[in-house]
Amino acid sequence: MDLAAARRAVLQLLGAVAPADRAALLHWMRTTEDFDKFTEDNNDIILKNIADDLRNCLPLETMLSSEHLALQKLQQQPEPTVHVDAFLYDEDCIDSLCEEGKMSRHYCTVCGSHQTASLGFISHSFSLMELKFIYHHVLPDLSGKVLVDVGSRLGTVLYGVLHADICTQGSLLQNADVVIMNNVFEYFLHETEQTRAWEYISHNVRKQGSLLVTVPSLEDSLSGLQTNIQLSTWVEEIPLNYDVYPQKDFDREALEQIHVYKIL
Ligand SMILES: C[S@@+](CC[C@H](N)C(=O)[O-])C[C@H]1O[C@@H](n2cnc3c(N)ncnc32)[C@H](O)[C@@H]1O
Repeated sequence: MDLAAARRAVLQLLGAVAPADRAALLHWMRTTEDFDKFTEDNNDIILKNIADDLRNCLPLETMLSSEHLALQKLQQQPEPTVHVDAFLYDEDCIDSLCEEGKMSRHYCTVCGSHQTASLGFISHSFSLMELKFIYHHVLPDLSGKVLVDVGSRLGTVLYGVLHADICTQGSLLQNADVVIMNNVFEYFLHETEQTRAWEYISHNVRKQGSLLVTVPSLEDSLSGLQTNIQLSTWVEEIPLNYDVYPQKDFDREALEQIHVYKIL
């Protein structure tokens, strides 16, 4: 069926719906996620399959034994917060787990009462939406380029393994055309170590014209640290258009944390 015939068929169907139900049907058509499967491309399906496979062999909390400081910082959050890996668990997945009683979006503020408050969620991986935004709308064609994902964790950004402290990888950083840094140090290192790591990054990510993608912004990451990094002589921020997804329910706030800089 071509587009014109499909349109006629939809209009005919709407014409056949009981008038009292038409508004409800139109509302459902505008808001439902049941149509997502028709717009998913093969890449979405591959990424979802990878997430399914990983989810089935990792514990629900998806924290690594080396991430003890991140666990400690989670417990120090002002509101009760749990780690829910955004690459492995999308909203539908969380809903199903909540229905099964294996996960909760709320916590009880007074034990035994019905008073509840929203539980904070934090993710140490990019979600599918953030990854697609970066690869489709932030980065240029990567053919022949060297991309380094600092702190690759589950391998959501880049499935390649080089197991080392980034502060020992100067030449890798010096040769990179694109460096991606998703909340690498904030939750995982003490402030003095963060300061040292950022100094190391700023000394080694120097290839003129290369790109540095960060979450959150460099200003935010460095604001609480005593570093000698001069952002204005190191990088220039490239403005991003965060309005690339037409759906109403996309997480714009998460995308706004993504920043890209050109190395000067
Ligand atoms: C928030 S996760 C990001 C995971 C992945 N890049 C993503 O976006 O889905 C940050 C990772 O950086 C790692 N990390 C922290 N400090 C590091 C260092 N000095 N060298 C290498 N990795 C580091 C952490 O252990 C953690 O696995």
